[in-house]
Amino acid sequence: MTVLVCGGAGYIGSHAVAELIKSGKKVVVFDNFQTGHREAVVEGAEVVEGDLRNIKDIDQVFRGYTIDSVMHFAADSLVGVSVKEPLAYYENNVYGSLKFNKVYG
Ligand SMILES: NC(=O)c1ccc[n+]([C@@H]2O[C@H](COP(=O)([O-])OP(=O)(O)OC[C@H]3O[C@@H](n4cnc5c(N)ncnc54)[C@H](O)[C@@H]3O)[C@@H](O)[C@H]2O)c1
Repeated sequence: MTVLVCGGAGYIGSHAVAELIKSGKKVVVFDNFQTGHREAVVEGAEVVEGDLRNIKDIDQVFRGYTIDSVMHFAADSLVGVSVKEPLAYYENNVYGSLKFNKVYG
């Protein structure tokens, strides 16, 4: 089974990736590295750099790999900033997810 982990270089995502690799799953991490870190991705996971809001980037993943399931952690996650900049958070967290779902959901 191959699991696509969106935001897999982030805090929560990288822990999920480590557990998936430990349990023998193939993992593809998709991340734009705006807050994530390549070093946080454990060895054994494939890494594709791209942005969830860019359909071309997502297409690249689905053309290159047979994906069986998706775990989605790609988001802006700072509560304080989300209150100050709600539209930026809407754009990434809501629009980004909807765009992905519209094409591949
Ligand atoms: N950290 C927590 O304690 C916690 C608790 C509950 C829920 N969550 C939720 O888990 C999710 C991840 O939170 P986190 O703390 O790991 O944040 P994080 O910033 O560490 O991780 C988010 C990851 O997503 C990537 N990313 C963001 N937007 C992207 C985009 N448009 N395209 C591709 N990659 C993108 C970032 O580069 C980063 O690697 C959020 O939805 C957050 O609300 C977090």
